[in-house]
Amino acid sequence: MMTQPATIESFDAVAMAAWQTTHRQRAEQALASTLTSSSKEETSHVKEAMRYAALSGGKRWRALLVYATAALCHAEEAVADAAAAAVELLHAYSLVHDDLPCMDDDDVRRGQPACHIAFGEAMALLAGDALQTQAFLVLAQSRLPDPAVACALLAKAAGADGMVGGQALDLSGEATTLNALEAMHRCKTGALIEAAVMLGVTCGETLTAEQRAALVRYASAVGLAFQIADDVLDVEGSTPALGKTAGKDAAQNKVTYVTLLGLSGAKDKMRALCEEAQQALEIFGAVAWPLKALAVQAVTRGH
Ligand code: IPE
Ligand code: IPE
Ligand code: MG
Ligand code: MG
Ligand code: MG
Repeated sequence: MMTQPATIESFDAVAMAAWQTTHRQRAEQALASTLTSSSKEETSHVKEAMRYAALSGGKRWRALLVYATAALCHAEEAVADAAAAAVELLHAYSLVHDDLPCMDDDDVRRGQPACHIAFGEAMALLAGDALQTQAFLVLAQSRLPDPAVACALLAKAAGADGMVGGQALDLSGEATTLNALEAMHRCKTGALIEAAVMLGVTCGETLTAEQRAALVRYASAVGLAFQIADDVLDVEGSTPALGKTAGKDAAQNKVTYVTLLGLSGAKDKMRALCEEAQQALEIFGAVAWPLKALAVQAVTRGH
């Protein structure tokens, strides 16, 4: 378990736990409703693999970011459901592909056999593909004020200038300096986290330029912090606690924040980013507490 950052704000833990339980359940329902069982026999196996990958655990932290930001923008929760489901569908696809033998070659995900172990490589590849297209279908058919804007936002974050670009850099092994590693982490993980926040914005009322800039700053800090925490957990966590193979980065000689800064340097960096994220929200006042609490969670989580 990670230690608490020194200057993290204290929140009403009971209120946060209740908020989180309610919204995690909401995200689960929204996600499940987008992946209903197939009536067509020829597609049932791939649909089964999609449901297996998307509905079998996960913290739903990105969906929580959507709901917390949407609330700040006075959005209806029923509208935010589509954005929450879309970002988790996209994330689930990225995990299925990340675990494939041609990528990180990981056998365990969310505490169960990875999708390609359970369904075979070809079916996992296709399930990932279809989870991705489903994310855009959900947004396109949503009641969001401007579905095309939401689709474009997610597409940019997921594509060659975002998650896919970051994954390609990761596999190339070329990101060996701190600057290059930061850029890679911001793409492979930060981009989708930023998209979750900005999708929350698109669900509701228009913000001032200053409020929008504050959320961009928050999302950028928290997105990088989340992947640094993932690097730390890879070293400090256990396979049962993480629900994925611990020590994988070292086993594959990956350059991470831990290899470049050491454990304590990596933790200092993620705590500083957590502080930055919380400070960015000051202009919203007390109502931004769920987003602040999610930033703290990003760096204190145990899995
Ligand atoms: C894991 O993400 C992959 C990264 C981008 C670091 P999460 O830690 O959010 O995984 P789940 O969704 O809870 O399984
Ligand atoms: C990449 O980071 C996350 C994705 C973009 C899918 P990792 O490869 O470190 O994620 P884990 O540790 O397997 O969840
Ligand atoms: Mg990876
Ligand atoms: Mg991986
Ligand atoms: Mg990792």
